[in-house]
Amino acid sequence: MVKRGSSYYVPTVAQSEPIRDPRLFIHNLVKRDPLAGFAEDVRRGLSARPKRFLPKYFYDELGSQLFEAICLLPEYYLTRAENEILKRYSDQIAGYLDGQITLVEMGSGSASKTRLIIEALLRRQQELLFIPVDISATALESSSRILLQSYPRLKIEAYAADYFAGLAELEKKPRGRTLALFLGSNISNFDRDEALRFLHALRKMLHTGDALLLGVDLKKDRAVLEAAYNDTLGVTSAFNLNVLARINRELGGTFDLRKFRHRAFYNEAAGRIEIYIESLFKQNVRIDKLDLEVEFAAGELIHTENSYKYDLTGIAQLAASTGFELSHTWTDSQKRFSSNLLLAN
Ligand SMILES: C[S@@+](CC[C@H](N)C(=O)[O-])C[C@H]1O[C@@H](n2cnc3c(N)ncnc32)[C@H](O)[C@@H]1O
Repeated sequence: MVKRGSSYYVPTVAQSEPIRDPRLFIHNLVKRDPLAGFAEDVRRGLSARPKRFLPKYFYDELGSQLFEAICLLPEYYLTRAENEILKRYSDQIAGYLDGQITLVEMGSGSASKTRLIIEALLRRQQELLFIPVDISATALESSSRILLQSYPRLKIEAYAADYFAGLAELEKKPRGRTLALFLGSNISNFDRDEALRFLHALRKMLHTGDALLLGVDLKKDRAVLEAAYNDTLGVTSAFNLNVLARINRELGGTFDLRKFRHRAFYNEAAGRIEIYIESLFKQNVRIDKLDLEVEFAAGELIHTENSYKYDLTGIAQLAASTGFELSHTWTDSQKRFSSNLLLAN
């Protein structure tokens, strides 16, 4: 990889020499973004009561790949349901906006489902600028490369960044008519105040007449929800525990992963799946680079993620409180997942 200030060009997988692709530019804000301070956030999270980690730290290189594996699990219906909607309605979605559209995506990951929107837009316009923003530089690089190989009329200007840092950068740059995507029910990881703060920031980046396609998982039977986060193959467990492995790798931690386990359950009153790592024993763990010794009680939980489930009224309220108008909602055939088009007004 060749550094140019805070940005770099990306080599292809097969070659170690960097290839300058004139259609790709990646801005790497992760390193200079204080929000991405893994070490400080781990220290803070392990000193908090109850202990907690931020969900964005799931997504190192291994974590991003484990998430891709989750998307293939039979229990994890979310990806298939959203894919079904986009397959059926992407032309209709693209038709809501007129003129030459720029596509922005927050938390794009592998951008697999994004392909359906890219193809719909390329049926309407000659060229497309795609601006993905993701905290995982590795996911961003590999997805960008794969997309450019598939679509010769695509250009990519990517941001390896936390959502808010990415939005602040995007806000500074002039842009034409924009369709923003926030897929995969990423919004579910925010509690209500954070969701409002995020949508306000996104709305501020957009202009009147732009739109946001918001993928949101819907409330449903507890058994279906809990199975989605407790797959029998144990991939979600590996994804969750990888945060401890990441602390071992990057911060000199001494977590013995066999002494912890994955827990996920539906808190119906709060309308959310809650995900934790449970310490199976009373134990102490040292983290060398933080010069920190952490005590765990037997049965103590570290909170790692929430996944809020919505109903259609809740989605309309989120839109109305953040300067959007909910223009259309599409659901999959089993009404498990929703894609919502929010117009910036
Ligand atoms: C649940 S995955 C969804 C990926 C993809 N949008 C999909 O629908 O399959 C969440 C994605 O958001 C990224 N992400 C999580 N937290 C983030 C943050 N705070 N800022 C930027 N990206 C983030 C992760 O790296 C990951 O690619």
